[in-house]
Amino acid sequence: MTSHELARRRTFGIISHPDAGKTTLTEKLLLFGGAIHTAGAVKNNKIRKTATSDFMEIEKQRGISVATSVMGFEYEGYKITILDTPGHKDFAEDTYRTLTAVDSVILVIDAAKGVEEQTRKLMEVCRMRSTPVIAFINKLDREGQEAFTLLDELEREFGIHARPLTWPIGMGRNFQGVYNIYKQQLALYSPSKTELSDEIVRISADDHAALVKHIGAPAATKLREELDLIEGIYEPFDRDHYRDGYLAPVFFGSALNNFGVKDLLDTFVEVAPRPLPRETSTRSVAPEEDPFTGFVFKIHANLDPNHRARIAFCRVCSGRFERGKFYTHTRLNKQIRFTSPTSFMANERNIIDEAWPGDVIGLHDTGSFKIGDTLTEGEALAYKGIPSFSPEIFKLVVNRDPFKSKQLEKGIRQLTDEGVAQLFIREHGNEKIVGTVGELQYEVILFRLREEYGATADFRLLNVYKAFWFTSDDKKELDRFMKLQQRHIAWDKDDNPVYLPEGNWAFNAAREMFASIDFHMTSEFGK
Ligand code: G4P
Repeated sequence: MTSHELARRRTFGIISHPDAGKTTLTEKLLLFGGAIHTAGAVKNNKIRKTATSDFMEIEKQRGISVATSVMGFEYEGYKITILDTPGHKDFAEDTYRTLTAVDSVILVIDAAKGVEEQTRKLMEVCRMRSTPVIAFINKLDREGQEAFTLLDELEREFGIHARPLTWPIGMGRNFQGVYNIYKQQLALYSPSKTELSDEIVRISADDHAALVKHIGAPAATKLREELDLIEGIYEPFDRDHYRDGYLAPVFFGSALNNFGVKDLLDTFVEVAPRPLPRETSTRSVAPEEDPFTGFVFKIHANLDPNHRARIAFCRVCSGRFERGKFYTHTRLNKQIRFTSPTSFMANERNIIDEAWPGDVIGLHDTGSFKIGDTLTEGEALAYKGIPSFSPEIFKLVVNRDPFKSKQLEKGIRQLTDEGVAQLFIREHGNEKIVGTVGELQYEVILFRLREEYGATADFRLLNVYKAFWFTSDDKKELDRFMKLQQRHIAWDKDDNPVYLPEGNWAFNAAREMFASIDFHMTSEFGK
C-alpha cells in the first residue's frame, strides 16, 4: 500500500520572479488536473479569500500573494501537490522554508526578461539542497530572447546544466509551436486561454516533408538545424542527473495560452521524483518507513477571524498519518492528537482520515508549533533543513500602550513563531529586535498586533548590518568575544547567540580579531 501511494506522489514548488507567469501556470496545471474548471479561478479564489480576513486585505491591496498556499489534485493516477510561494521579495524567507517541503521545483522564466533577480536567490537555495529543477520558459507568444541565449543564461547564472526537452518554433507573432524532443512530436500553436488541448502531430524531426507541411520550409530547416545543434551542445537527458539537481530539463510555452503546459505536466509526472528520504538531526528517514514522521514548514493565522487557532502546514515524510492518533511533538516531548486534520485538495479544505509521504496536511494549532517542529510516533527526531537566513532590516519593538505589554509580548512571540519575521532578544533590558528581509513585514506585524492581539507598537530602525550566528572550539575566545561585543549580541528563537554588527567594517574587524571564531550567515551550520 505504502509503496503504491509513494510512487504516485509528486510534491513540488513553482518559483519565479514576479510576473513571469507562476500564477497563470499554476492555474493551467490545475485546469489539466480537473481541479478547477475555468481560467481565472485561482485569482478569483485569492480575492474571495481576502474578503474573509483583514490580514489578507493587505495582500489584496498590494496585489501580491503573501500566503503560501497548497493545492493538491489528481492527474492520470498521480497525486500532485503544488506548494505555491509568495512572489514578493519581502516574503523571500517564507519561500525558502516552503522549498524545504518540496521534492522538486518548476522554475518559470519570462522569455523576454530571462533570469531575474529573485529567481537567483531561490535557485541558490535549491542548489544548496540539490533540489531537482525543471525550467519552463514562458510567454513565447511574445517577442523574447533567443532560446539558445536563454539556455546559456540559465547555465551561467545558476551553475546548472540545461537540457531542452521541447524546442520553440519561432516566437511572438511568428510563434508556430513547440517540438517535443523527448517524445518526438510537434505541438502546433493555436492561442487559447480556455481550451486545453494543443494540436499534437506525431512526427519525427527526421521527416522533413511532414515538418514542411505543418510549419513551412524555412521553419522546418531552421528547426532541424537547431535540433542538430542541441544534440551537439547539450548532454542527453539523464533522469539521475536531473534528480541529483545537476541537470535541468527545459520546456518552452505560453502558460496564458495553455500552450506547452501539457508537455511539461506529462513529462513532469513521469520524471520528477516521488517523496525522497530526508535528513534529521540523528539519521536519514526513508519515506517507506512504517512509523509516521513529518515536520511543520509553515504556520498560518486562521483566515477565519472568529477562530483564533492557527493552521500548521505539515509535510508528511514517512509512514501513514492517521486522524485521531497520538503523535509526539518532539521539541516539547508532548503527545498531541489531531481530530480534524485537513487536506488542501483542489483549494478546498476537507477533513482527512489519513495521509502519506509527500502530502501536506493542515493541523489546527493552538500555539504549540514553531516552524520546523517535528512530529513522530515517539522517536526523538528533528527534521533538518529549515535554516534562518540573516535578515536585512532590524528594528526594535517599542511598546505604545503600557497596559497591553502582555498582549504585545504574546503577539510578537506568536507572529515570529509563524515565521513572519525573526525575533532576537538583547539581554540588556530584554529588548526585542525584529529582523526581516523587507519593510512590508513590519506593516503586516503592526497590523496583526493591533487586529489580533489588541497591542499597539512601533518599530525603531537599528543600525545593524546583518545577523551572524557564531561558533568556536575555543571556549575562552568565545567568552572574550561575547563580553567585548556584549552590546551587539542577541539571542535567537532557539537561544543561540547572534552577533549583530553595525557595519561590514565592524564585522571584518571582529573577524580579524577573533580568528578562532566561525561566523555563519544561516542558523544551520552543521552543529
Ligand atoms: P506571477 O504569478 O509570476 O506574478 O505572474 P502571473 O501569472 O500573475 O502573470 C503575470 C502577467 O503575465 C499576467 O498579466 C499574465 O496574464 C501574463 N502572462 C502569463 N503567462 C503569459 C503568457 O504565456 N503570455 C503572455 N503574453 N502573458 C502571460 P497581467 O496583465 O499582469 O495580469 P492579468 O490581468 O492578465 O491577470
